[in-house]
Amino acid sequence: MSDPRKPDSAEPSTHFGYQSVPESQKAQKVAEVFHSVAAKYDLMNDVLSGGMHRLWKRFTIELSGVRPGNRVLDIAGGTGDLARQFSRLVGPTGEVVLADINASMLKVGRDRLLDKGVAGNVKFVQADAEKLPFPDNHFDVVTIAFGLRNVTHKEDALRSMLRVLKPGGRLLVLEFSKPSSSLLGKAYDAYSFAFMPLAGKLITNDAESYRYLAESIRMHPDQETLKGMMVDAGFDLVTYHNMTGGIVALHRGIKP
Ligand SMILES: C[S@@+](CC[C@H](N)C(=O)[O-])C[C@H]1O[C@@H](n2cnc3c(N)ncnc32)[C@H](O)[C@@H]1O
Repeated sequence: MSDPRKPDSAEPSTHFGYQSVPESQKAQKVAEVFHSVAAKYDLMNDVLSGGMHRLWKRFTIELSGVRPGNRVLDIAGGTGDLARQFSRLVGPTGEVVLADINASMLKVGRDRLLDKGVAGNVKFVQADAEKLPFPDNHFDVVTIAFGLRNVTHKEDALRSMLRVLKPGGRLLVLEFSKPSSSLLGKAYDAYSFAFMPLAGKLITNDAESYRYLAESIRMHPDQETLKGMMVDAGFDLVTYHNMTGGIVALHRGIKP
């Protein structure tokens, strides 16, 4: 009989930051990170990006081409920055679904949107990006902001997003990426591995989650690789825009 405490050597491994872990453990480890940071997530976003995440998200909304009456899915939507703007733009005849795998992040998102008076056209759904519980050809726009990096099987998630989009619908992937100059890359490395965990320790008493953030960014596919993955998943007209010197990239693909 096999010893259940020993890792099953037949199981494929994946990365969790710089660690190699069995695939079945990654989602749980990611969940622990977001349960731990949920309460201070918005504050940390502003501190770590110097408020720039708001500009990156604004550009995402502009490129989505969302219109009144549209149906929008924001997957890995967390505390609802994108969902809140989409709710205003689709209006009372549209619908926004904020989906996230993590109950703590969803709760912070739901409370925050209610506090800001956003109600009526937003639904909150706990869901895994790899297995979206929505019908085929359902949404005009799907977004995933700073979420794909955390997903274990990214190809499955991209195919699932393609399935739920209507033909002609748009997927927007906002994610950390690869700085376009090596000088910027070096400065960013110093910032990420020194300042991010320190700020995490001081503000959330959790340096480890912010070390994971820095490491997971380095392990995420670069601009061209992600573009290729979107093409392989079946998206058409895939393009990307670098922002802040490639520290962040916005990929867009259309469902044929
Ligand atoms: C860095 S936060 C981004 C939140 C928000 N989109 C934003 O830009 O502020 C990443 C989010 O991805 C969620 N997440 C991680 N893995 C996921 C998965 N497999 N499916 C859905 N959401 C996931 C986490 O729970 C977390 O809320």
